[in-house]
Amino acid sequence: MKAPNIVVPPPGPKAKEIIERDTKYLATSTKTSPLVAERGEGALLQDVDGNLYIDFTSGIGVLNTGFSHPEIVKAVKEQVEKLVHFAGTDFYYRVQVDLAEKLTQITPGDYEKKVFFTNSGTESVEAAIKLTRWSTQRKRFIAFLGAFHGRTMGSLSLTASKTVHRARFFPTMEGVTHIPYAYCYRCPYRQEYPSCGMYCAKILEELYFETAVPPEEVAAIFVEPVQGEGGYIVPPKEFIPELKRIAVDDEVQAGFGRTGKFFAVEHYGVVPDVITTAKALGSGYPIGAIIFRKELDFGVQGAHSNTYGGNLVASTAALKTIEVIEKERLVERSRRLGELMRKRLMEMQEKHELIGDVRGLGLMQATELVKDRRTKEYAPKEREMVVEEALKRGLILLPAGRSAIRYIPPLVIEEEHLNAGLDVLDEAFSAVEKKL
Ligand SMILES: Cc1ncc(COP(=O)(O)O)c(C=O)c1O
Repeated sequence: MKAPNIVVPPPGPKAKEIIERDTKYLATSTKTSPLVAERGEGALLQDVDGNLYIDFTSGIGVLNTGFSHPEIVKAVKEQVEKLVHFAGTDFYYRVQVDLAEKLTQITPGDYEKKVFFTNSGTESVEAAIKLTRWSTQRKRFIAFLGAFHGRTMGSLSLTASKTVHRARFFPTMEGVTHIPYAYCYRCPYRQEYPSCGMYCAKILEELYFETAVPPEEVAAIFVEPVQGEGGYIVPPKEFIPELKRIAVDDEVQAGFGRTGKFFAVEHYGVVPDVITTAKALGSGYPIGAIIFRKELDFGVQGAHSNTYGGNLVASTAALKTIEVIEKERLVERSRRLGELMRKRLMEMQEKHELIGDVRGLGLMQATELVKDRRTKEYAPKEREMVVEEALKRGLILLPAGRSAIRYIPPLVIEEEHLNAGLDVLDEAFSAVEKKL
């Protein structure tokens, strides 16, 4: 299929009409592009006006298996005809157990595990907050500046990637201490890696636990193995192990093959106590799960539960998603195509002054845009312009952090489409630079 193929400049007339009604009826949220989706296949998306785009967003890191993977569609259709819902928290059904068993097998750590199903990333994080408080009977948490763990009141108290997420919502949950993440491109301590000796990780033990935070009151450290919404920040490989205790590994954005490992934490060789997942687990069907050490289990009926968690259709989609990732070797594919993408992004960096940094793992890559490479002044306006120019030419992009653009195509993307998308990106940077 020839892609991209723009037949009418977006937003076309049909898109405009829907956008107008959306603005009238929907609450203000986080819209970034005037794109009105109609159908999708693999990594290609068609809008309501017939434009065909290459997608580098995967519906915010959800569609690792692509739009409408035929095997997932088939499994879901069969399940819908049999039974859609029957409260798996209160009753029993096979697919939920099959999925839980599978998740305990594919997650890092060879200890005995248990699973709790949710409906989204934020709900997984809420469940992890409750589970760790319950099992440790401790009340405090450590999280990182730049972190994104969700927007409900518990997870929001851990989130610290943009003040707009938090403003006017205080008081959130008490007891969270944020410390800087290993953001080497803009080291908060003005140090250089590796001569810094991983000060940003050591400071937890050496300073915080000696001064402000009694370690015996900490229920968990929440950490993203790659900071997602915060700007696709990959820490040096020593950072996560240096934290010494990794309690909750938030894989909501980085999991299920995205980084070239099944779970991103595997890049660092540490084993978490709790893993939070959602997004790519269900290939678009709303499902999340936390996978944790068996000993942490609530153990008391009623302490925690929900209505839809592990819903029959979503669980069926998730089980099939894992099967597809394994069968089609999508983890290896992410690694291979990620290298290809990274090489091309580095070439673009040589050519485009706007690109200050290129970073990522597997098919979770990003460029951070700067007005000036020396001062590293953030370039949010220029970032917006690149996203806009790319869309006009048929490439869908999403921002991340203050000044970065993330590149997260479905892992099934054809190499030809990956290259075509990167060609468009290159053109978009040139077009913006001409305008500046
Ligand atoms: C690492 C991480 N955790 C949690 C969340 C929250 O997920 P959801 O939007 O499904 O609530 C996100 C969402 O982007 C995320 O990236």
